[in-house]
Amino acid sequence: MEAKKIVKAEIISNRPIATNIMEMKLQVPEVSSLAKPGQFVNVYMDDKSLILPRPISICDADDNVLTLIYAIVGKGSLWMSECTVGQEIRVSTPMGNGFDLSGLKEGDTALLIGGGIGSCPLLKTAKILKDKGVKLNVAIGFRDEPFLEEEFKALGANVVVATDSGRVGYHGTALAAAMDNGMDCDHWFTCGPKIMLKFVAKEAMARGKDAQVSMEERMGCGYGACVGCVVDILEKGAEAPVRKKVCKDGPVFLGSEVFFNE
Ligand SMILES: Cc1cc2nc3c(=O)[nH]c(=O)nc-3n(C[C@H](O)[C@H](O)[C@H](O)COP(=O)(O)OP(=O)(O)OC[C@H]3O[C@@H](n4cnc5c(N)ncnc54)[C@H](O)[C@@H]3O)c2cc1C
Ligand code: FES
Repeated sequence: MEAKKIVKAEIISNRPIATNIMEMKLQVPEVSSLAKPGQFVNVYMDDKSLILPRPISICDADDNVLTLIYAIVGKGSLWMSECTVGQEIRVSTPMGNGFDLSGLKEGDTALLIGGGIGSCPLLKTAKILKDKGVKLNVAIGFRDEPFLEEEFKALGANVVVATDSGRVGYHGTALAAAMDNGMDCDHWFTCGPKIMLKFVAKEAMARGKDAQVSMEERMGCGYGACVGCVVDILEKGAEAPVRKKVCKDGPVFLGSEVFFNE
């Protein structure tokens, strides 16, 4: 595997797309040209009080431009939101394994289930699947205010939006919305809160499928040097679970192999 590098990226836009949700576009060909769906980058802050990088999923990428969507939740993401067009920031080259799309072929069906900010890495995933001729079903859930719906629809996906509040779309979870809309598919992909991943993995297994789940575990170093991000994984054929690092071995695992503790 290629060694990870930290490179400079020029901000070409940084704008709100929903309440406390920002979209940042970066001119950084060394990163965007390598990006695979489900991978993330580490974003470094030029602030001495923010030493650890913040992992942010690759939402979209072409040969030149990397798109990140992030929620403002603390000091790191607030720092990012205050960055301006033309400013250079430091990001890592793509990290982690990403979704394995190699087994999907034209005519297959795929169900993508996103929870909140976890919907973002599913956009690049959907683009690659569309190019393969896979039929896309997308269920995205939010507390109250959806985003990315139009981007998924523009790919020709069958999209359902769910909100906890019921103010927009289906009143309930993205998983319930998907199942109530008959979206069971050949292949399942999901990213979002751990509790959601647990139920998606369980539902997929009940239907004879194995969901690929992308974990957004809290991280420390972000590149495999600490144990800030471990999850228990029971690999097929193994007798006991092993501790795996989300930043290095993940963030994507098979739903059937993850020990969900909540
Ligand atoms: C592989 C991966 C991909 C991610 N992709 C995205 C993304 O595309 N967009 C995005 O907005 N965020 C994403 N995250 C989460 C993001 O890394 C954190 O929100 C960010 O690091 C918070 O930094 P902060 O300094 O703003 O907040 P902090 O001050 O570090 O934390 C603020 C609050 O957020 C909580 N928090 C921090 N990290 C996480 C986490 N990983 N999961 C749940 N709660 C957390 C803290 O417990 C605290 O309550 C991803 C995380 C991982 C591990
Ligand atoms: S965050 Fe340090 S090992 Fe994963």
